[in-house]
Amino acid sequence: MDLQILLAVAAGAAGASAFFIGSSRAHLTRWFPHSRQPKKPKGLVEVKKVKNPHPDWQPGQKLPHPFDSNHRLELDPAQEGAGLYPFVISSVVPRPIAFISSLSKEGVGNLSPYSYFGVMSHDPPYVTIGTCATSGRPNRMKDSQQNILETGEFTLNMMSEWFLEAANHTCGNYDRGVNEVELAGLTPVPSVRVKPPRIDEAAVQLECKLRHTYDVKNTKEEVTATIIIGEVVLIHVLEAVTGKTGHGHIYVEFDKYAPVSRLGGNTYARITETYDLPRPGKEWQERDALVAPAK
Ligand SMILES: Cc1cc2nc3c(=O)[nH]c(=O)nc-3n(C[C@H](O)[C@H](O)[C@H](O)COP(=O)(O)O)c2cc1C
Repeated sequence: MDLQILLAVAAGAAGASAFFIGSSRAHLTRWFPHSRQPKKPKGLVEVKKVKNPHPDWQPGQKLPHPFDSNHRLELDPAQEGAGLYPFVISSVVPRPIAFISSLSKEGVGNLSPYSYFGVMSHDPPYVTIGTCATSGRPNRMKDSQQNILETGEFTLNMMSEWFLEAANHTCGNYDRGVNEVELAGLTPVPSVRVKPPRIDEAAVQLECKLRHTYDVKNTKEEVTATIIIGEVVLIHVLEAVTGKTGHGHIYVEFDKYAPVSRLGGNTYARITETYDLPRPGKEWQERDALVAPAK
């Protein structure tokens, strides 16, 4: 290529890039519609809608089982004792995680994750948490439990991926009196109806009052866990993660929420795919009756 052609090509390329660089955002978004979308905030997870596992399934149809269902082990809790721990935490999955903030009667803060946790109702919401005795020391309760029993109050902060490492750090076996909120670098914010603070990093914060406890005893009559039942008396939710139903009720959009769940061992899980299945209507009852008439 002689020098003149080379210079012309170089000048053309430079002109084209100058044109692109100088283009207004309006030009860019017309050609590349994706650049019009607002940037996703950091710490969020891409959630894809996918097909359900068996889109062609019809009621009554047997689905293929991937394993031989005749070979099962029987585990007797009375025999297994504390050895059931790996089985329980790996089989009842995924579990949501309650990040519990409590205060001792002297006012010292405490923060710890609990995945023996569930919500049992919504009008009003009641939550349950299972606090296990400190490992190898039955009858020795965890600090969160002692605080909740002493004060009757706690806040339950839901876990999102953007602060997971800090939250995980709070579960160390620290001495009573150590404030895990400060240790992990999390941010306490005052609650309205209870004394223990909420955790600012959490998108959903539930102010709770203790309503009931139930001690779980092993075969030796030792208290190995306590089930704490609390009533949610006030809810705080980040507006940015909410949507509204057709009836105007608030719900949480989980692609903005990045919820984290607990599996067995030290494993956490994130939701990256979801699928919808409508609840079957009454018409399927008639259809079922046609497929397998009731005797
Ligand atoms: C994700 C996760 C879930 C946990 N779930 C529970 C649980 O459900 N019950 C429990 O007793 N301990 C659970 N732990 C352990 C406690 O968080 C840990 O023992 C903590 O030190 C208790 O602190 P506390 O004595 O200050 O309350 C969990 C730990 C992690 C990391």
